[in-house]
Amino acid sequence: MEKSQQNAPDAALTDFGFRQVPTGQKQALVRDVFDTVAARYDLMNDLMSGGLHRVWKRRLVEVLFLRRNPAREHVQMADIAGGTGDIAFRAMRAAARFSTPLNVRVIDANTEMLRVGAKRAVSEKNARHVSFITGNAEHLPLADNSLDIYTIAFGIRNVTHRTDALAEAWRVLKPGGRFVCLEFSHMPSALLTRAYDAYSFRVIPPLGGLVTGDAGPYQYLVESIRQFPRAEAFADEVRAAGFSRVAIERLSGGVAALHSGWKV
Ligand SMILES: C[S@@+](CC[C@H](N)C(=O)[O-])C[C@H]1O[C@@H](n2cnc3c(N)ncnc32)[C@H](O)[C@@H]1O
Repeated sequence: MEKSQQNAPDAALTDFGFRQVPTGQKQALVRDVFDTVAARYDLMNDLMSGGLHRVWKRRLVEVLFLRRNPAREHVQMADIAGGTGDIAFRAMRAAARFSTPLNVRVIDANTEMLRVGAKRAVSEKNARHVSFITGNAEHLPLADNSLDIYTIAFGIRNVTHRTDALAEAWRVLKPGGRFVCLEFSHMPSALLTRAYDAYSFRVIPPLGGLVTGDAGPYQYLVESIRQFPRAEAFADEVRAAGFSRVAIERLSGGVAALHSGWKV
């Protein structure tokens, strides 16, 4: 187990970026972060990553194999910590290209992020089967064995009890269902890591301050990335939750990683 104490009792401490906070307070602190950034969230993603997050999200949607649906029933997908709906809209567009009927529930703990997503849905051609639901990754408002696809992009890092979120992913997926997680990760090269750290800590929080009026959420972002387990350690957590054929795909030299697995 990495530094953060997974499933620690609520009296214990957990990390919130580099700070240690009472476990029971982390969710509210994370909510404050996303309340602050919701209106400018999509713009900041482009600015910080130079558009790379689009490439990573495209890859996530590619590995969902939305073109393969011989049954022609609606594929049931939930995008957890789905925020402003980016993954859901991309998945809907991909499914539409292959005439695959898809239903996506965007579930997020933050109503402000969902509000921005719902607004975006108005101008999205393929958003008829996208719904926005407030909910916590650790206690999903979904029935057992109800999903074909569970995705979570840049969300698992913010969850207080990662083990509970992974157990929920397993519970809600049907046998044969797919788990796909996109998250920031760690670069294998020490030299590149130094350059990346310099960029992250010197550029991102001030940029966030300029664009959103508050550098704090972006300081949390860069710190929380450093606190998240390395790709292999997180893959072990996914396996421990019960998933099979767990695979890691490193993106952009390891800045981000896709973890996927199957419920069999
Ligand atoms: C960095 S954003 C990612 C949004 C979107 N998935 C994307 O890739 O653009 C992280 C999201 O996780 C949500 N979140 C944090 N903790 C959560 C939890 N325990 N359950 C559900 N959503 C959570 C936040 O509200 C926020 O919208």
